[in-house]
Amino acid sequence: MLSWILAIVTAFVALAVVLRDKPQQYNLPPGPQGLSFFGLIGSMLPTDRPWIAFTQWAKSYGDIISFHIMGRRIILISSAEAINELFNKNSLNFVNKPPRIMASLCDFTETLPFMDNGPQFRKCRKQFHHELNSAAIAKHTAVIESEVQSLLQNIARQPSKFEDDLYFAIGKTLLRLTLGYNVSDKNDRLLTYAESVSTNAAIAMMPGVFLVDRMPFLRHMPSWLPGGGFKKVAAQWRQELYELVDKTFKSLEQQKGLDDAQEHLMASMLRSGDFDDDPDAQRNIKFSAVTIYAAGILTIQSFLLSFCLAMTHFPLVQREAQAEIDSIVGRKRLPTLADKENLPYVQCLMKELMRWNPVVPLLSRKPSEDFKYGQYDIPSSATIIANAWAITRDPELFPDPDKFEPKRFMPCDSGGKKHEIPDPTFWTFGFGRRVCPGQDLAESFTFVAVVQLLATFDIRPVMDEEGRPKLPKIIYTTEAASRPMSFDCDIRLRPDANGFFTA
Ligand code: HEM
Repeated sequence: MLSWILAIVTAFVALAVVLRDKPQQYNLPPGPQGLSFFGLIGSMLPTDRPWIAFTQWAKSYGDIISFHIMGRRIILISSAEAINELFNKNSLNFVNKPPRIMASLCDFTETLPFMDNGPQFRKCRKQFHHELNSAAIAKHTAVIESEVQSLLQNIARQPSKFEDDLYFAIGKTLLRLTLGYNVSDKNDRLLTYAESVSTNAAIAMMPGVFLVDRMPFLRHMPSWLPGGGFKKVAAQWRQELYELVDKTFKSLEQQKGLDDAQEHLMASMLRSGDFDDDPDAQRNIKFSAVTIYAAGILTIQSFLLSFCLAMTHFPLVQREAQAEIDSIVGRKRLPTLADKENLPYVQCLMKELMRWNPVVPLLSRKPSEDFKYGQYDIPSSATIIANAWAITRDPELFPDPDKFEPKRFMPCDSGGKKHEIPDPTFWTFGFGRRVCPGQDLAESFTFVAVVQLLATFDIRPVMDEEGRPKLPKIIYTTEAASRPMSFDCDIRLRPDANGFFTA
């Protein structure tokens, strides 16, 4: 019975959207055929890594496409020009995210990635910029380098657990940088809460995972009715968020009154003085801390897993990067962030990793007002999806885009001819008013991790019974921060790497 009611209501909602966006009112961009009142019919709906199918659609229909799914009008943007025009030049109109009902039921909307434009959003962005700008992050290089060295030791001890070790190292570093909190082991309560809140928030960020995001009226449904299970999930996730916030708060409280040597990211906010008397300031500081680990853990992990996967597949690239490190740094010490300028090939490798599989392939927005792009209308009721993956695989920008080739980013080719190639991080760290505020921290941590892993280990495919290499499949998850599916690789200490640490 309930499913019938839902189907009928959905049909009405879909019909309402079709009528609201009626062609005579808007000159909508072209899009895939197969529309019904519900939108694209089942077989056409890409559910597995939709950015790949969307890139194909762009080849057939153009850089700006329109279609509707379950009553929601989608405008898909797949070119660098269109992204620049909308998200950078008209950033005020494209600053808000589409409403996420599930996220608001969990109170994730208290954190920056889910906030709409307004005084609170601007205050938060300012705070993040203040805490995470390159000069602020530079003060934490020693912490980053020491945490990466613990990571190397853990991997050396049990290489098959490298995925867990990466996750642990990132969570531990973010908690230490943000709060000055020292995680003791993998079962640490604060770390466990941080990990689970990150995962929950990433799921809530994905459009359409929960039916309530497509049909907001369902939020009024009692949790005991069939289909109301999302409410129980929301209650659980909300509780985990507040557990994390409370634990963060307690950790900050314990540090109040400590001297100025406390240089974790929250320290300057704690010293700002209004923390005691201003409930808003208290809330901001607590949610800012939570946001840093929630937004940082999965994204950095995804990048470093891509690195391990790429090294397993492309041994020549690995050898070339190792040869550069060995010749510049030698084998007597580990490379550090200070070596970055002298390691151009490793810098190119970092860019190629970002381009090869962007961590956040799709970004979505909700326009504040109707907008005209070229001959087409973009209604304010639409959800805009920018396909960053399509841009990093655009052969006009990156020739032979499916090839993993760091050298494409070298300033000149072997004949001295200059390369005209854009920096993929223009797209992979977001755009306009919502560009990633953690970019400097992410780039510092990932550089140190990549360069030290290369100096210390060889990463190879595992062998099958007949001694043939078993290359892992290059498959990524369908998540807001997409990462390689779990895979095996053979990580071994390089012959003279023992001296870098006591394993
Ligand atoms: C390799 C690592 C990372 C990548 C590729 C990455 C990428 C991105 C992208 C593409 C966005 C924009 C999302 C959108 O507009 O929908 C974003 C937003 C954000 N990132 Fe990152 N990020 C990374 C690491 C980090 C770290 C380490 C932090 C925290 C220290 C962080 C904090 C944030 C926050 C708070 C936002 C939301 C900004 C807003 O909505 O205004 N990110 N990130």
